[in-house]
Amino acid sequence: MNVCIVGTGYVGLVSAACFAEMGNDVVCVDVNPDVVSTLQAGKVHIYEPGLEDMVRRNYAEGRLIFTTSLAEGMERASFVFITVGTPSRPDGSCDLCYVEQVAREIGQNMHKPVIVVDKSTVPVGTADRVRAIIRQELDKRGVNHDFDVVSNPEFLKEGDAVSDFMKPDRVVVGTDNEKSAEYLKTLYAPFARSREKLIVMGVRSAEMTKYAANCMLATKISFINEIANICERVGADVRDVRIGIGSDHRIGYHFIYPGVGYGGSCFPKDVRALINTAHEFSFRPELLEAVDTVNNRQKKRMAERIAEYFAQQGGVSGKTLAVWGLAFKANTDDTREAAALAMIEMLTAQGMRIRAFDPVAGEKVREQLAHNPLVEIVDGQYEAVQGAQALLVVTEWNQFRTPDFERVKSLLTAPILFDGRNLYPPSMMAELGFAYFCVGRPD
Ligand code: UGA
Repeated sequence: MNVCIVGTGYVGLVSAACFAEMGNDVVCVDVNPDVVSTLQAGKVHIYEPGLEDMVRRNYAEGRLIFTTSLAEGMERASFVFITVGTPSRPDGSCDLCYVEQVAREIGQNMHKPVIVVDKSTVPVGTADRVRAIIRQELDKRGVNHDFDVVSNPEFLKEGDAVSDFMKPDRVVVGTDNEKSAEYLKTLYAPFARSREKLIVMGVRSAEMTKYAANCMLATKISFINEIANICERVGADVRDVRIGIGSDHRIGYHFIYPGVGYGGSCFPKDVRALINTAHEFSFRPELLEAVDTVNNRQKKRMAERIAEYFAQQGGVSGKTLAVWGLAFKANTDDTREAAALAMIEMLTAQGMRIRAFDPVAGEKVREQLAHNPLVEIVDGQYEAVQGAQALLVVTEWNQFRTPDFERVKSLLTAPILFDGRNLYPPSMMAELGFAYFCVGRPD
């Protein structure tokens, strides 16, 4: 089949590579000529395990093409996927300017029947808006092509994006048009092999499903962080509590790891966007508001504990903190809404010096925080610790899981470790002689 994908971010590029991998002809369109030429040179501008190989191979075999021209992309396409960014506005609502711009251009370039697929995360009602914009452009041109606008939200996780796309839990298709549903079933048949994995529903329900899924997952995380905070105070261990509740199959073990709060480009933005949508319809979503509040508090929690610890020693000002991990989670270079950045901002505002290391995101953060003279990004995890007063672990990269603790101890001025991800057993840390602070477990 001929597929056009507009936007080469995580979702767009992964979808394009995976559709091409299954033998489809895919044209990937991006407005940024630098991104297009990087991709044409066989390089991928985002860090995603397995993606570069797949892009390079399919490009070399001619099934994947990159261009800045939507007209070229739409020449033969039966499907046009919209996978452009939907950033947050300052009030938390979703900014649809890129989606709307693409919709206009689709209307301007359509010359045959096509199925337009919204894959970007967009508020309920956006497919109708995209449909209206395309219709308006066709009317301006005085032409009438048969087209449909379908919602097909994406559920992939950064770091596991390729395998999530290749083996999805489900594929949601929102359309009232049976023909469109059949076409999408055919396109997705190699991915959603069992038929019940492809779920067809109304357009607005599909749009809502995406937000409901992310808000549910965010709620699980804020819930367990709340429980962890109570555990700390009452002397319970959240690790045991997680296993105790997770063994109930209605609850499950997944996505109830406490930590530094959720970050990334999706959960914080999507929770706020759904809150905003509810407000627009004069409904106050109190649970979602609490999920957001709890998360904002959790992101600062470890920094507060560091400040509290050093309060007895004249405060954090002038002290140096080693930080392991800057990305919002492991296996990505993404630092959007990363807890590490929130904590660094908080602690440097109080005069603390930071020596940070991240295996992938370091370079990016070096540029982002270049204005802050108290922050130094170094190239090795032990280099970060050298001469620091304490170590803070923020991201659960594998290389931080079993470090050489004797070396860490000898490099720190005192053995103090704040662990935002509960990576180490408290008993072992005590034996090693560390003052060890973690999440939801007795210190
Ligand atoms: C999330 C969803 O998991 C995907 O299903 C969805 O498609 C995607 O958003 C999106 O809307 O595009 P992602 O943002 O890549 O994926 O990251 P996750 O792996 O879900 O992690 C999100 C945050 O929650 C991270 O900061 C992570 O550290 C945190 N988390 C996750 C916890 O604190 N505890 C957990 O138990 C799980």
